[in-house]
Amino acid sequence: MTTREKTTVIVFVNNKGGVGKTRYTIMTANCLAAAGYRVLVTDMDFNNSSSYYYLDEEGMAKSIKSNIKAALSDEGNRLYDFTLPTIRKNVEIIASSRDLSDLRAVNEKRLKNMITTLNGEYDFMIIDSQPSYDNLTLNAINAGDIIITPVLKDLDSFNAAAFLRRKLETETSKLPNWYVTINGYNKRYEEAAGGRQKEYVEEFQKAFRTTPKETWYPWTTDMTELKDMKKKLSHKPESDAICNPALYEAVVNLSECFLEDGEYLAGGEAF
Ligand SMILES: Nc1ncnc2c1ncn2[C@@H]1O[C@H](COP(=O)(O)OP(=O)(O)OP(=O)(O)O)[C@@H](O)[C@H]1O
Ligand SMILES: [Mg+2]
Repeated sequence: MTTREKTTVIVFVNNKGGVGKTRYTIMTANCLAAAGYRVLVTDMDFNNSSSYYYLDEEGMAKSIKSNIKAALSDEGNRLYDFTLPTIRKNVEIIASSRDLSDLRAVNEKRLKNMITTLNGEYDFMIIDSQPSYDNLTLNAINAGDIIITPVLKDLDSFNAAAFLRRKLETETSKLPNWYVTINGYNKRYEEAAGGRQKEYVEEFQKAFRTTPKETWYPWTTDMTELKDMKKKLSHKPESDAICNPALYEAVVNLSECFLEDGEYLAGGEAF
């Protein structure tokens, strides 16, 4: 079991919807947890996607009372009281709530001020955020040590990232903590005639700071099984796991960006 003194907060954020925030949250959390880190996923999207993934029926029932809206509304700062165990070892969750949007005017640093109570309890807190930009999104951003914006290879994603950069610069102090990562880069199509993925990646790299280890998640239908069937991801054929070496390598590479010098992800096991 690995332990760190301070909880590192990773936030996946994009005001554009459907870019992979929830998939990145789940993949990163499962990868770090399999390496022995204690991970707290926090679902800040009232659509509850991460909560549905991590909680069984009993957990979902508990989340009616124990969720991020209740935590942010509580007079105390004890985030820890609102955590729930999940279907994955080493992963706990603060679930979301359909009523979270009631808090859209909450103080934009409320969550940040609560996080110190987590130090020593978790190595990583990973926040999945909603596809919008309001005080709830700002709570996630302001709480983050590392802020990642997944983007698809399209103009809408480029424009959304440009919008977010402007907001981070003018409304927060978090621009230096912000990185863009490209969701949907398939190596085997690198040289395909007419394919524009290289051009898009170059545009993103020119305009934004991209994540340090530049291995992008490939676009793959395996994502559906991994999320909806809650299957594990493996880099070799294994019963009951989805074998996808390219995705596995990309998830490990991105997760290693969150480690400090001297730390590494041992293993090769399915997560
Ligand atoms: N790398 C990928 N390969 C294949 N499908 C993907 C990939 N990333 C995301 N998807 C698909 O795109 C859709 C959106 O992904 P996801 O829910 O993770 O995005 P999101 O940013 O969290 O969306 P929302 O803004 O609605 O919360 C899902 O159907 C998912 O399966
Ligand atoms: Mg989502």
